[in-house]
Amino acid sequence: MKYERSFNFSAGPAMMPEPVLEEIRDEMLNYRGSGMCVMEMSHRSKVFAQIAEEAEADLRALMGIPDNYKVLFIQGGGTVQFAMVAMNLMKNGKACYIETGAWSKKAIAEAKKYGEVQIIASSKDKNFSYIPDCSDLDIPDDCDYVYICENETINGTTYNKLPDTKGKVLVSDQSSMFLSRPCDVSKYGLIWAGVQKNVGPAGMAVVIIREDLIREDLPAWVPTYMSYKTHADNDSMYNTPNCWAIYCCGKVFRYLRDIGGLEEMARRNEDKAKVLYDFLDSSALFTGAVVPEDRSLMNVPFVTPSKELDAEVVAASKAAGFDNLKGHKSVGGLRASIYNAMPKEGVEALVEFLKKFEAEHK
Ligand SMILES: Cc1ncc(COP(=O)(O)O)c(C=O)c1O
Repeated sequence: MKYERSFNFSAGPAMMPEPVLEEIRDEMLNYRGSGMCVMEMSHRSKVFAQIAEEAEADLRALMGIPDNYKVLFIQGGGTVQFAMVAMNLMKNGKACYIETGAWSKKAIAEAKKYGEVQIIASSKDKNFSYIPDCSDLDIPDDCDYVYICENETINGTTYNKLPDTKGKVLVSDQSSMFLSRPCDVSKYGLIWAGVQKNVGPAGMAVVIIREDLIREDLPAWVPTYMSYKTHADNDSMYNTPNCWAIYCCGKVFRYLRDIGGLEEMARRNEDKAKVLYDFLDSSALFTGAVVPEDRSLMNVPFVTPSKELDAEVVAASKAAGFDNLKGHKSVGGLRASIYNAMPKEGVEALVEFLKKFEAEHK
């Protein structure tokens, strides 16, 4: 069955690769002769154990995750990780955060509930339109970790160079850039990503944590479920996991391996984002919101000269078959999220539409 699908520029949940959706469709009623859908399966069954093991193995291969890191699949999406990171890693009760936009601000607000937070760099002065210089940060000796949001989904910035943490543990929220390019996991203490942007269905986060950061000595007030040790000791199956999300993510991990891995994904993402950024740079009507050096390949915020015109673009784009181009309510304007699964044709079609809109609004 072939049917019309829209080019969906949503910031998440977002598009998934079509071959993956087709495979899921084909396995929906009877997963590989098991007689049931994965949604109906016991998480303790052999069939599901294999699904989970393969998902982890494929992710490890894809990212080259070293053996001294655990891979955890934890429910609660991204937001739960704001608290879990602080609860688990604030041993001295002090952490350094880099403030680059809406999602690092949320992480900061949450961490403040559990200890002292020092903001050691910020791009607030210019409306979070750039990544601050992180080459010589003032990091106190007793700081437990340095935290970044590696790709700010709402503001559209990304790190092209990781901060020099001066030997301190680096923690990164990779939610909106996970698996979009190669990643040297050994540079991080902990990477986490809500999966609903670049990988699978909402409601789960992948956590990649260096084993020595999994603490035995957590304070008693930390809820059992919020301890990384609980998940690490039980292969992410302390309780009933989000089986469906693990299954779908596993399919995407395999798909990414099959297309040539993260180098190939990065090549495609750069190629695709260039189409949109080249247009924005040449346009007299539309302006990108981020300095060129720090532009995200995944989330592209842009504006027209007026709010009214922004709203007109959103309405006209919807009518033309492009979904979810409205900027986040906190910043307004427009935003095209062009994650891994957005085909280049989607971006080319969007640019054609924007060019036409511009010609008609001279
Ligand atoms: C960078 C980033 N971190 C965290 C979150 C929060 O994730 P969730 O909605 O799964 O709690 C989001 C959600 O959009 C995000 O973009």
